[in-house]
Amino acid sequence: MNERDTLKVNEKGHLELGGADCVELAKKFGTPLYLFDETYIRKMMGVYRDTLKKHYGDNGLVLYASKAFSCQAIYRIADEENIGIDVVSGGELYTALQAGFPAERIYMHGNNKLDYEIGEALDAGIGCIVADAYSEIDKIDAEAKKRGMVQRILLRINPGVEAHTHAFVQTATTDSKFGFSIADGTAEKATAYAMTKKNVKLDGYHCHIGSQIFEKQSFVLGVEKVMDFAVSMKDKLNFTLETLNMGGGFGIWYTDEDRKILAEGYAEYLEALIQTVKEKVAQHGLKAPYLLLEPGRSIVGEAGVTLYTVGAIKDIPGVKKYVAVDGGMFDNPRYALYQSKYTPILANRANEPCTEIVSIAGKCCESGDLIAVNVSLPKAETGDILAVLSTGAYNYSMAMNYNRNMIPPCVLVRDGEAEYIVKPQSYADIVRNDVIPSRLLKKTK
Ligand code: LLP
Repeated sequence: MNERDTLKVNEKGHLELGGADCVELAKKFGTPLYLFDETYIRKMMGVYRDTLKKHYGDNGLVLYASKAFSCQAIYRIADEENIGIDVVSGGELYTALQAGFPAERIYMHGNNKLDYEIGEALDAGIGCIVADAYSEIDKIDAEAKKRGMVQRILLRINPGVEAHTHAFVQTATTDSKFGFSIADGTAEKATAYAMTKKNVKLDGYHCHIGSQIFEKQSFVLGVEKVMDFAVSMKDKLNFTLETLNMGGGFGIWYTDEDRKILAEGYAEYLEALIQTVKEKVAQHGLKAPYLLLEPGRSIVGEAGVTLYTVGAIKDIPGVKKYVAVDGGMFDNPRYALYQSKYTPILANRANEPCTEIVSIAGKCCESGDLIAVNVSLPKAETGDILAVLSTGAYNYSMAMNYNRNMIPPCVLVRDGEAEYIVKPQSYADIVRNDVIPSRLLKKTK
């Protein structure tokens, strides 16, 4: 097991998260179950917030990229920790507003925001919208005009940085649906275009080079490219970079193949990024831009553990041993999508040595419904509680009702206490939006 702050094994040999016995939690709340360690989440928000302040003063804000895990409680935590958030849909915006999150600390992203989403963002008075296409600049301008206001925007810029991660989660190479490319000149054209609009105030640039990235150099290169571009826009268009948003993307520990960074270690990434901004500012005599960062995965990822109960075990001699659990791709589609790797452990026998290599299968009708392939475990028995580590980011947020399975509840743990932050779904929830047209209603004789 890794030496992370959030997990330990207690005297019963049970896994503990945030001071709570996972086996007891599985009994109390049932499985599958998403657990989140509040202390770790707050710690990570604090590491980013305090590092930014230490090296850049008050001239910036950390935004929690809430696509990683969105529910009302997480927005309350982010608010209490005095950071901002980014949202990427009307649904995330609505959730944040329902939780009472201050609109001025909300940034909105998305590569194809819908008219009503832009309208809702303007009506709420959110801090900033990141425009990702000409049509979006037009739409924001038009909607702002209707409301007699001027909306602050950033342009999403694609600096063409190759970040070492899975292709589906890379967002800033040349072929990307995100952003205006610096290389092909569209970033310049979009800057000039946005500057002509009366009801938007182009305040700066946003860039996000990808996700689950460990190479500090990729982040540094991203900053250099965007800052150099801003310098050229100052020279060519007399554009002043007021705000620079460098996105998120910091990698986390899923398995021992990943670089292990303990919470405080993330400060180094920020320092490197901030240092580069400062150097560019000094080199070109620029005004220091208001600096934004948007970590998502690294705030909630390692705070989360999913608990399952082991069910059917199928040993195919010479081929594979499948250990099936009561969850699957409906609560964690990341193996199916990205062949992501995870570390599973038996929560009720967490001290026992691993003796076999197995694959963890879900319960969906799909061969690719796997959680982890060829992982080491003690010999699992039906009824064991299996914990999959580092599932706090992009698991619940990407969960679905495939096969009409119910999305598991989320429980927040703090100092040994545990309570729901997302309640379990029921079969009634599953059929809630179904409609049977009257012609199909079952005829009563
Ligand atoms: N900002 C922007 C504009 C983003 O697109 C993202 C993530 C973030 C910030 C936060 O990045 P993070 O710090 O979480 O790496 N579903 C995929 C991840 C998709 C990431 C999308 N964008 C997964 O499960 O790995």
